[in-house]
Amino acid sequence: MKIRTGTLRGLKEKGQRFSCLTSYDALTAKIFDSAGIEVLLVGDSASNTILGYQGTVPITLEEMIPFGRAVASASKSALVVFDLPFGSYEFSAEQAFKTATAAMKQTGAAAVKLEGDKIEQIGVLVNAGIPVMGHVGFTPQSVHALSGFKVQGRGERADELLKQCLEIEAAGAFAIVLEMVPAELATRISKLLKVPTIGIGAGGGTDGQILVWTDFAGLSEKIPSFAKPYLDLQGMLQKAAQDYRQDVRDGSFPSQEQSFS
Ligand code: KIV
Repeated sequence: MKIRTGTLRGLKEKGQRFSCLTSYDALTAKIFDSAGIEVLLVGDSASNTILGYQGTVPITLEEMIPFGRAVASASKSALVVFDLPFGSYEFSAEQAFKTATAAMKQTGAAAVKLEGDKIEQIGVLVNAGIPVMGHVGFTPQSVHALSGFKVQGRGERADELLKQCLEIEAAGAFAIVLEMVPAELATRISKLLKVPTIGIGAGGGTDGQILVWTDFAGLSEKIPSFAKPYLDLQGMLQKAAQDYRQDVRDGSFPSQEQSFS
């Protein structure tokens, strides 16, 4: 079954939680899609995870398009969401429209995500037929303005965050990512909103969860405390590479089995 934005809303209404992972290539997209992961986000986290840049600020739309195309072409069921990179949508609704339409035409993604309470941008995109996922709380593209990686929405800021979510929902977003938000607040927001919330570092009370796939697979250099590595891919790859090197050195690879007669 093809997952659509309405499917996620239906899951929320049934009280059924769903899972999202980032993906930046056809190999992982195919695996995660066939495992039933409902949403694949072509995250701007490709900036640091794949391209080795410092944070998500440096990556450009041009750099992200091939990742988006690879993920969309390898996904049969998952809803593929393309993350609009820093500097490609903030200035105006017109800028956001140009970026989002280019991203959708060139990748085949079914929706876009953008950070912050960009109400005008969200409204224009939604009116143009582009499904939009919001993203509030800690928004990595604003890491410098937020003075680093900090939990958002604590104390008096809680109501402000709730208001942002209600405005984003009213502007037509189909889901909202809550990143690094106190669990209690994320639960409260999730109960008040009609659209699904997707948590990352926001506790267990959101409608869905999202992880950066390299954190989930234990491949990232530094795994955030809110993420759970489900395997040690870094260790497995390192061990396999060492074994291969050793086999080449001692002549046990290639064997006759791997040779043509
Ligand atoms: O780019 C990304 O990986 C994200 C997730 C952290 C939600 O935006």
